[in-house]
This record gives sequence, structure tokens and C-alpha cells, in this order.
Amino acid sequence: MVEHRTAAPHISESHISESHVSEPLDAVIAFAPSNIALIKYWGKSDPDQNWPANDSLSMTLNRAATRTIARINRAANDSADHQLGFGETFTNNLRVRDMTKPKKFLEQLRVELKPWLRHDGALEIVTTNSFPSACGIASSASGYAALTVAAAGAWTGQTSIEGLAGIGISKDKLANWARQGSGSACRSMHGGFVRWVRGETAGQQVCEQIFDEHHWPLADLIVVLDSKQKQVSSTEGHSRAFSSPLMNIRLAGLEERLKCASAAIRNKDLEQLGQIIEAEALEMHAVMMTANPPTQYFSQGTVRFIAWLRQARATGSIAAWFTLDAGPNPHLICRPEDSLQIAEKIRGAFPDARIIMDSTGSGVSMPRWTGEDRGGVAHGH
Ligand code: DP6
Repeated sequence: MVEHRTAAPHISESHISESHVSEPLDAVIAFAPSNIALIKYWGKSDPDQNWPANDSLSMTLNRAATRTIARINRAANDSADHQLGFGETFTNNLRVRDMTKPKKFLEQLRVELKPWLRHDGALEIVTTNSFPSACGIASSASGYAALTVAAAGAWTGQTSIEGLAGIGISKDKLANWARQGSGSACRSMHGGFVRWVRGETAGQQVCEQIFDEHHWPLADLIVVLDSKQKQVSSTEGHSRAFSSPLMNIRLAGLEERLKCASAAIRNKDLEQLGQIIEAEALEMHAVMMTANPPTQYFSQGTVRFIAWLRQARATGSIAAWFTLDAGPNPHLICRPEDSLQIAEKIRGAFPDARIIMDSTGSGVSMPRWTGEDRGGVAHGH
């Protein structure tokens, strides 16, 4: 999403505090969950259009989410003078790093939205994550999904997903636009299990739900072993991937792996899905370790955790399998009914780790303004 760290020089966070957008008349709210990739998007055929080198498959999450409030900034002198700010997460650690990318994204989105514009002008945006940054949850996925829906709503005067669809802005369109901000954001438009198909050309890519959130609810325990900001961004990682001698071998086997993963989800076979996602995550990380320059997202904690998990599985005490995004913190996929007990075991073995409990969720929504709403992200919706 909009990235975090230090305040951008000309934006005062207090100036665009959430109370600033508490006026219900013309503000719209978008809620977008994050998603965890089971088959990874790693490497781009065209970086300018976020055209992935391969199809990917993800599970949409429920609690890890971004809530974004947008309205027309009537005080702005320049129609491109958007103001973007962060609300506070429960860890209070988000700071605005660089607004150039989201502002450029909004300008492109405004061009796409031309046929539907009811209001025009700069936007005022406050965005809040339900999870801390750099914890192993892709904030760019939920962030750009929420930003796309909120901005589309504010500029077209629509306050619901149905309203947007009614004027011809389908979820497919929203996914396509969100993807241009961050690739993985397109998968957050839908709930359940989602496949992002690369197509034959950059313009042909589509994002489709293959099973909805009721088909097979799973738990995702995000084990935060290390909450330091990652050194190499995903975007940079994507471009390094092709320098690994393993990349072409990886790409050659992915279609088959994706087919097997889809079958495991269809059959609700956790062990089969688990074995696939672990092989997939390790392969992506092997590509990174053998890239030029070599890139390591693993920490020592990650290695210890994987060894512990394998041991626990071998003794039959845990039925859970991990995946890893571009960072050191594993996501453990398990049955919801086992999740509390598994979390206890993790706490026993890794007392310093923080565990974020999540599960299969539905895609984007546009919650109604409740009056008490000041932009904080509810857990679940
Ligand atoms: C490892 O979507 O963050 O999480 O398109 O450059 O913004 P950009 O990359 P991003 O990459 C996500 C990489 C991943 C795997 C995945 O989510 O599929």
C-alpha cells in the first residue's frame, strides 16, 4: 500500500486527521482485506503494467485489512493536490514514507474513471490498517484495493459495490485498476480462493474467484518472529528473480502445481494443500537466495520455526503447514478448530513471537457510515 516510515515533508498528519473526514455527506468508506498467496506471484513479464510471469492463487483474509475513507478535497487549489494520511493502527506505528507512488496511481485512476466522473478534483484520504506494517501481511494488497474502491466511490458518487457495478464499474474493473498500484491487490477484490490469470498479453489478465469463502474456511496464523522493515521490497524482489538460474525451472512447473493446489482446495485436502504450499514458498525463497544479488528474506527465526514445525508434525501433534511471502514471518494454514491449540504450542516454543489469528474472508466491501465511525478498522466485518 502507501508505504510507511517517515512523514512526507509537505503533508501534516494532524491536518488530515480522521476527524477531518468525519462528515458523512460526501465521504465514502472502502474496506479491503489482505490476501495470502498459496501459489506466489513472483517475477513480472512487464513491470510497468504489473503483468505477472505466472498465474497465482491466494486465500483472501478476514481480519488483516485496510479501511480507507475518501472524499473530494474542496479546499485544494490544484485538482491533483491529493492529501493522504494514515489513521493509527493498534500498534500506532504507521508513518507515511513516500506519497509519490499513490498520488501517481490516483492520477492514472482518475483518467480511467473519466467516463463515470460525477465529482472531480483532488481527494482527501485517510487509510488505516488493522495490522502493523512489516509483519508478514501484504499491506500493499489491501492498501491499493481499498484506495481504488474508495477513490472510485468518491469520484463517481457511489457508496456501495453494487452502486459501482450498477454504473458499469465491476469488481473486474476495480481489480484491474488496483493491480496497477500493486499486483497482489487485484486478488483482494474477491473473497475465498482467488486465481490471478496472467493471460497472453498484459491487457488480458483477469482475476477470478475459484471458490468462495464458504467453500472451505481455513485459519491463517501469522507468526511474527521479526517485525523489522524488510530490506528489499517485493517490487525489487520481482525484478531480481529472473537473475536466478532456478527461475525458469520454477516457471516450468507452476501450472501443474497450481492445478494440484486447486484440486486440493476443491477436495478440502489440507495435507495435500499443505505440502504444495510449503514446496511453493521454499521454491520462491530459493529463487531469491540464488538471485543476483542474492536476496534473503529468511531470518534465523524462520529456519528454527520450520524445523520445529516439521518435528511437531512428524510426532503428530500439529496439522498445520506454512507459507512465506517476501519476509521472515510464516503464515500457518490449519483447520479453524485446531487454531487455538496450535497457537498455544507456538507460544510455548516461541515465547517472543506475536501471533495474528486470521481466517478465510470475503473480498472488498463499502461499509455504511455509522456515525461512530472514525475510520478505525474493525476486526472482521
Ligand atoms: C511475495 O504485489 O507486493 O507477496 O506488484 O510490485 O506491488 P508489486 O508486488 P506485490 O508482490 C507480492 C509478492 C508476494 C507473493 C504474492 O502475493 O503473490
